[in-house]
Amino acid sequence: MAGMTSSAHPIVSGADPTRPAVNPEEAAILIFGASGDLTARKLLPALFQLWKEGFLSDRAPIVGVARRDKSDDEFRNEMRDGVSQFARTGALTDEDWAKFSQRLYYRRLDFTQEEAFRAFRGQVEELEKSSGVSGRRIVYLATSPDLFLSSVEGLGKAGMIPHGNGDGSLRVVFEKPFGHDLASAQKISHDLGRLLTEDQIYRIDHYLGKETVQNILLFRFGNSIFEPLFNRTHIDHVQITVAESQGIERGRGGYYDESGALRDVLQNHVLQLLCLVAMEPPALFDAKYIRDEKLKVLQSLAPGRPGDVSNWAVAGQYADGTSDGEPARAYRKEDRVDPKSNRETFVAMECRIDNWRWAGVPFYLRTGKRLPERVSEIAIQFKLPPLNLFTTVECEGDICDLVGARPNTLIFRIQPREAISLKIMTKRVGMQYQLLPVAMDFEYESAFSKGLPEAYERLLLDVLRGDSTLFTRSDELEAAWKFCTPVLEAWEKQNREPEFYPAGTWGPEGSTKLLTRTGRNWRSPSSKKNH
Ligand code: BG6
Repeated sequence: MAGMTSSAHPIVSGADPTRPAVNPEEAAILIFGASGDLTARKLLPALFQLWKEGFLSDRAPIVGVARRDKSDDEFRNEMRDGVSQFARTGALTDEDWAKFSQRLYYRRLDFTQEEAFRAFRGQVEELEKSSGVSGRRIVYLATSPDLFLSSVEGLGKAGMIPHGNGDGSLRVVFEKPFGHDLASAQKISHDLGRLLTEDQIYRIDHYLGKETVQNILLFRFGNSIFEPLFNRTHIDHVQITVAESQGIERGRGGYYDESGALRDVLQNHVLQLLCLVAMEPPALFDAKYIRDEKLKVLQSLAPGRPGDVSNWAVAGQYADGTSDGEPARAYRKEDRVDPKSNRETFVAMECRIDNWRWAGVPFYLRTGKRLPERVSEIAIQFKLPPLNLFTTVECEGDICDLVGARPNTLIFRIQPREAISLKIMTKRVGMQYQLLPVAMDFEYESAFSKGLPEAYERLLLDVLRGDSTLFTRSDELEAAWKFCTPVLEAWEKQNREPEFYPAGTWGPEGSTKLLTRTGRNWRSPSSKKNH
């Protein structure tokens, strides 16, 4: 993160006044698997935005690489559509596009053909020479994971992997999935470890690139009033929700039916959120120390209840229902999904973090598709005051109802309408002593008019700068798989139907019961209201 990257950023003079005064990063960026959706929807729009803001040099070549034949111009045209649709900047001007796209190239490569990499190396060197950029390369593997190893082997055989490391001349970025269980993740790490050093590997978890996710650490360790309360003495429980209203996007059924909610989102995004909210302060704000602390959280993570997995983890699958007021079909009827599939589209679990800070505090995690709304949040629920001196009311307009005592809750709303909200009790105005829950809100959109950077902008810039703070280290990945794999194995061994829930609801009954058995309830998070 800022302040400890490999490159300092002195202010340069004479730069375009519409662009911030920073030293732009320069490297050849080679995107493998460039025909895929990710390149046009996320990577190129992010690179364009970085260039527009002066973080990326004018000449750094960006080379799309894939199996199909394509000319540079065809690639540029495809990317223009992606950039104009998905980049954050308003309308894309011809002038901007002409300036940016002159360094876009396309090169054909069969990632399984080792010999082809030799010719590829020559092509890259030629482009680097003509651009005047040499010395640093970023290889972004946006391919399917079964091509990771052959791609890296190809680079190695062609002499494109420098030995000795440490000079930052090659960084390889991997998109998930990184394995599908502990054994496969260990195998990939082992195989890649023969070819690349850990410093050369950047495993993307795009959640870590989100502004609000980074803010968890700054909020926790930049304020002194909350941290003393972040422990078992004051906190009743924590809820982490990553909810999506969409079902399975077209073309994704094949992948998702092999993967499911636990592998697709919980094992990575949700556990990363858990790490950030539960970790100890790092010795230094630095990649190594932060990742060391996150690792300790994952190593202390345990099932919330002893015995069978079904005591603490619930798998659900959406049935016919509605989504945003429209009929939504069941998961089993989605394209490229097995009509008898038992794959979970929802997972909820109760976990513990067995360490001094958190012993005895339940962490409830859930994620799923076709839930009522797309909203991700972390809710930290404090304990009730020791003595209930007042009655509490909740009001809608002028109508107020007596309710039970309400706890203080601190909510990090990760997306959308990013916010931090603290629910407190206050006296209801009137002639009685009654408590009314109200929220103290900090909303990003009112505080920062510029809008939030996209996760991929931040992450790509960090790769260019050689800052691996926001990337998952192999031991973290292994620890996350170690926790998740027994759940997957239990589900797959039993091959039981998951619990069904109607599309557009908050998941199956079993998920509700995980909390109600202890007198707790899931929140119904919503970005449409503050609460
Ligand atoms: C991806 C998953 O990693 O995260 C998708 O593969 C999911 O299935 C997505 O939809 C959610 O990300 P975001 O940023 O839209 O919350």
